Amino acid sequence: MFKIPFLDLPPLRGAAGTVRLPGSKSISNRVLLLAALSEGRTVVRDLLASDDTAVMLEALKALGCGVAQDGDTVSIVGLGGKLLAKQAQLFLGNAGTAMRPLTAALAVLAATQGGSFEVSGVARMHERPIGDLVDALRGLGCSIEDLGQPGYPPLRLRGPSTLALGTPVRVRGDVSSQFLTALLLALPLVAERDIRIEVIGELISKPYIEITLALLARFGIGVKREGWQAFVIPAGSRYRSPGEIFVEGDASSASYFVALGAIAAIDAPIRIEGVGSESLQGDVRFIEAAAAMGAVVQAGPNWLEVRRGAWPLKGLTLDCNHIPDAAMTLAVMALYADGPTTLTNIASWRVKETDRIAAMATELKKLGAQVDEGPDWIRVQPLRDWQAASIHTYDDHRVAMCFSLTAFNGLITDRAVSVRILEPHCVAKTFPDYFETLFGVVSVNAADVPVITIDGPTASGKGTLADEVGKALGFGVLDSGALYRVTGLAARRAGLDLDDGEAVAAIVPTLELSFRDGQVFLGKEDVSARLRAEATGLLASQVAVHPPVRRALHQLQLDFRRLPGLVADGRDMGTAIFPDADLKVFLTASAATRAERRYKQLISKGISANISGLREDLEARDERDKNRSASPLEPAQDAQMLDNSALTIEASVDQVLGWWQQRRPF
Ligand code: DC
Repeated sequence: MFKIPFLDLPPLRGAAGTVRLPGSKSISNRVLLLAALSEGRTVVRDLLASDDTAVMLEALKALGCGVAQDGDTVSIVGLGGKLLAKQAQLFLGNAGTAMRPLTAALAVLAATQGGSFEVSGVARMHERPIGDLVDALRGLGCSIEDLGQPGYPPLRLRGPSTLALGTPVRVRGDVSSQFLTALLLALPLVAERDIRIEVIGELISKPYIEITLALLARFGIGVKREGWQAFVIPAGSRYRSPGEIFVEGDASSASYFVALGAIAAIDAPIRIEGVGSESLQGDVRFIEAAAAMGAVVQAGPNWLEVRRGAWPLKGLTLDCNHIPDAAMTLAVMALYADGPTTLTNIASWRVKETDRIAAMATELKKLGAQVDEGPDWIRVQPLRDWQAASIHTYDDHRVAMCFSLTAFNGLITDRAVSVRILEPHCVAKTFPDYFETLFGVVSVNAADVPVITIDGPTASGKGTLADEVGKALGFGVLDSGALYRVTGLAARRAGLDLDDGEAVAAIVPTLELSFRDGQVFLGKEDVSARLRAEATGLLASQVAVHPPVRRALHQLQLDFRRLPGLVADGRDMGTAIFPDADLKVFLTASAATRAERRYKQLISKGISANISGLREDLEARDERDKNRSASPLEPAQDAQMLDNSALTIEASVDQVLGWWQQRRPF
């Protein structure tokens, strides 16, 4: 995946439609580990494909598990509790859901079977605490070495050593519930006798423990519990694969679409598939918070429908301990409220992917909001006087996703602003297609969708420049020449007289055109190669002189103006099709340079060519394109001129991106 440095969101106006959520991160990584510890094969369906599950899968392979992946189905052949590899170095990225349980499982397996395992991650992972878990495991008799700062990864887990299973294992529950989850997942591996786990301090994020217990039950382990204070793994517990298991949609990810419904589903609801009233995940209770802020929510077993109720939303004060991840979304909804919103009991935010209280406060303030924060709370005031802002995302997927909701500011104020999300690819941690999914259900005024036009004569390098600029900004690309080429080709195939503009225009609505992966299809036929041929270019130039043909293709070109933006190349993009474009570039290069470029292009494709002939053809086409009466080739008045005869592609791209940045409000 090409990583764009930022994604600009123009003002968004509404939302409706259906989204399918990716699999839950918490469930995916627990299920993968459980399958790996069980005996035999487990087929895991609807698994989340993300950075965090990828590091878990890599770790399981390194430990000798059989892993076979086919789309979102993964088949795991488990270890049956026996270490196949006695040594491994596991890199776990920034995945807490891999780091904590693998540490516990490998520590007890190394203690009973011998071995040496190193676990490490990215720099931020080495700042995320694990000391309480390490203390608990050491208390049990595991041998764990700090390889960096004590209390933080990286760690070395070594054995054999003697485990004291007769005394209760004590673990703190007030920093991260993942420590308790890690012990609950690891200790069934050594349960020759009843093992008692006692929680010290008030257990936070209890719903995540519910997920752990429910999944343990699916894999044959019936944990006995005394409230939230003590848990007993019965003697003789053994992991048994359920054979096949389905991963629910991610309830934390659902929060962005629930909020979207509350803010922007004005005429029809947003339907969310993959989580619902029967979900195992505590974060579905986010819907109660959203409803308290004004959302109208309907829930089925595995779906939700949300639409706007109260508007503005209603500010509230809420203890968010039970929905720590989803609660970040409330902090953004608060901007659209009628009064302050205070979220309390969220100390765990400070030890997540980033210090989330600080991050949310800093970024909300950039938009103009008034925000106060304390050690374990945040208060956000409603915002009406919005400022365009560039949002830093701290390599935290949830910061990126919840700030996308700020693009609806035009629904609460007359002076709508754009929002820039920096490093948007960080959403890959749990929701790689987040922005595409969002764009699929939102509406926008076409005039707000940014457009860059690149016009110029044939073989000036417009196509390459447009593709590269589009890639750098994450924008779609319109190669308008391809539309004239297709029209010319189809007219010729239909035996039409190319001088009869009305007849040629009449076939445009009948063309079954589609664009997939940079290729152009006419019906089922991939005509991309045919379109690029010189002969087709000539046909295009002939049909392009007719006003009826140009009119017939006009709307088709406008339809390319879609989120998050468009780079359009051709002859009249800046003059006739997108006269309101945010940036217009007119690209030129000397006829000699262009003829040489086209010559090299043809030769590289194994097509024989002759430079002087090519140059004559180019000049003839330039003449026709310039002198026709309908949309002649000429720079728009407000176009930036770019002669790239002596420029590399990178230099031209940088120039266009530089102009673009100058025009942005950030
Ligand atoms: O950019 P190209 O070589 O693919 O364009 C082929 C012909 O189509 C070109 O000679 C003129 C015509 N054309 C046009 O008239 N208007 C456009 N926007 C794009 C192409």
